[in-house]
Amino acid sequence: MPVAKDGPVIVREHDVVMAQAVEGFRGLRIAQISDMHFSRWNRVYECAQRLLLSLEFDVLCVTGDFGDYRHLWQRSLELSERFLRPIVDRKPVYASLGNHDSPNIAEKMSLPVRWLRNSGVVVETGGAKVFLAGIDQNESRADDLDAALIEGVSSLPTVLMAHYPSTVFRLPDGPVDLVLSGHTHGGQIRLPVFGCIWPNDAIPRRMAQGLHRVGQTWLHVSSGLGTSLPLRARFLCPPEISVLRLVSVADHPIDRVSAAAVESRQISLPV
Ligand SMILES: [Fe+2]
Repeated sequence: MPVAKDGPVIVREHDVVMAQAVEGFRGLRIAQISDMHFSRWNRVYECAQRLLLSLEFDVLCVTGDFGDYRHLWQRSLELSERFLRPIVDRKPVYASLGNHDSPNIAEKMSLPVRWLRNSGVVVETGGAKVFLAGIDQNESRADDLDAALIEGVSSLPTVLMAHYPSTVFRLPDGPVDLVLSGHTHGGQIRLPVFGCIWPNDAIPRRMAQGLHRVGQTWLHVSSGLGTSLPLRARFLCPPEISVLRLVSVADHPIDRVSAAAVESRQISLPV
């Protein structure tokens, strides 16, 4: 169930229970958007921008596919800046690249977006600290998980931005608490009961959107905001902003055992 809506864009919110108790952790609200595929300004971007300016969150993570056609990166860059400009004034924005992105999107952007390209950084806000990493998935074999995670801090929750959700199946040893991904567009076209027809990645259809547990790691797959070929349409799969609230198991009203069983817990968000 969406917790907020503006035009065609919905907001979904999830609690994500961190595996280990983290002293002093008071929760971090991560807003995530993905797969904008900017080629021309439209109502979806207008509504999503308005929602992001009204929602409560600490940081915004953008998990790739700013662009549509790589060779038209200048147009996508202009629209990315138009979309993000009022948001970077308000909140820290972290980003990684997806398969539709020219590296120029990151290298030429004039806004203070923190690009995580096979790198990571400690994010601290309001008493909550996490290690946030990102990998470059704008072309095959460009990503380097080891490099992205090497400066991880074992005492902190680790969040990884990876455009392809199948990344969760090839994580190196060591704790990654949450993977933020996109790419699937939620399937873009979904059927009643059947759900996603084609996830466009090496994951089960049921994992094409939402929050899932894979071993000790949570995987969140954003349905994204835009569309891409071969069919520029969505059906039963609205454009989406996600807000993930990272919760220490010590501060959460469920015990450690049941924490592992929680797939997705919808909670209310003031609209
Ligand atoms: Fe995409």
